[in-house]
Amino acid sequence: MKTACADRERGSKGKGNREKVVLAYSGGLDTSVAIRWIMEKYDLDVIAVAINVGQVPGGDDIIARAVRNGAVKAQLVDAKEELVSEYIWPALKANAMYQNIYPLSTAIARPLIAKTLVEVAKKEGARYIAHGCTGKGNDQVRFDVGIASMDPDIRIIAPMREWVMTREEEIEYADANNIEIVIKKEGLYSRDDNLWGASCEAGMLEDAWVEPPKEVWTHTVDPAEAPDQPEYIEIEFEAGIPVGLNGRRMRGVELIEMLRDTAGRNGVGRIDHIEDRLVGIKSREVYECPASVTLITAHRAMEAMTLTKDVIEFKRGIEQKFSEIVYNGLWFGGLREAINAFIDKTQKYVTGTIRMKLHKGNCVVVGRRSPYSLYDTGLSTYGKDNSFDHSSAVGFIYCWGLPDKTAAIAHKKK
Ligand code: ARG
Repeated sequence: MKTACADRERGSKGKGNREKVVLAYSGGLDTSVAIRWIMEKYDLDVIAVAINVGQVPGGDDIIARAVRNGAVKAQLVDAKEELVSEYIWPALKANAMYQNIYPLSTAIARPLIAKTLVEVAKKEGARYIAHGCTGKGNDQVRFDVGIASMDPDIRIIAPMREWVMTREEEIEYADANNIEIVIKKEGLYSRDDNLWGASCEAGMLEDAWVEPPKEVWTHTVDPAEAPDQPEYIEIEFEAGIPVGLNGRRMRGVELIEMLRDTAGRNGVGRIDHIEDRLVGIKSREVYECPASVTLITAHRAMEAMTLTKDVIEFKRGIEQKFSEIVYNGLWFGGLREAINAFIDKTQKYVTGTIRMKLHKGNCVVVGRRSPYSLYDTGLSTYGKDNSFDHSSAVGFIYCWGLPDKTAAIAHKKK
């Protein structure tokens, strides 16, 4: 994990003997205001930590701004590689989709962020961690449970859960306290973005009848405006993990970033649905997941060719359980680990290449091949190279249908 950091003149020990809090900082309005609010209300020195999980760079120097806004120290941690190898690939192998539609893009990055915050807190000798989640969402659960699983002695501060400031009041507070903020038009929505996908909620999206306006979408073009010509891609898998794109081997981060662009420019990966949060609330969610939707579709197709029927069917139930566990913030629990151990075992022969056609919002598998293919044309063909023993079908059907036939005879007698 790479780390860049900035210190205030007074150094990382802060003023006198004040205790320290590590703040999960994004550079947005909430966490910028939170720096000052925590300093005042809790009398703590704030160490702001921005964690790069592949969100589109804001362009402005959020680290320096955190220090100007009062943080004793601010750092940027690059966690992209770890996100891919330890969180995204297990989710892909599980074909993870919460409620069969959401690829869990926000949910899988939260445990990694929690873990990183705990690591920084240990290094800095901080006993507090702060995050900007509200009291209504799933993310607070994922952070609080994740942090407690890593270090049960850490105390958690969640300013947004405690204060009752509206967006306008936050801006007023910032003005009154000389807090430097950058107000973005996209700030009208609650956003989260990483390599596996972006989510957008609140603002005018709260009206479930309103179609998401153009400015909601940042990674995908409108399928109606996508190119008229389809784009073909080839994804190469080894033991369930994508290792190459269009004939070129590449590392996970690069592969996902490339797919995000390719699928995004063909309008693939837009999701708009009503979701059931862990805290019992239904919410309207808009996601853009071009890379994850494409990869999960491809991975499922690779499994269809290389896994036996019973494994596929049993795994389907496990996949759903995995998705719920991750959504519900229990990443560091024993069940998630055990499920991943099972899934890893199933992936040994999930190797080969999937060919896909991306076109105006659709991604469709149009070809597949594998050195471990269970698809045997000798068995499936209706042509002359048939190797299936037709005569065996008669005996098989006699036994297979025997229970129902026996019942029919018995019922008829009565
Ligand atoms: N509902 C999704 C989830 O719980 C997305 C949450 C997005 N968070 C946000 N701050 N916009 O995983």
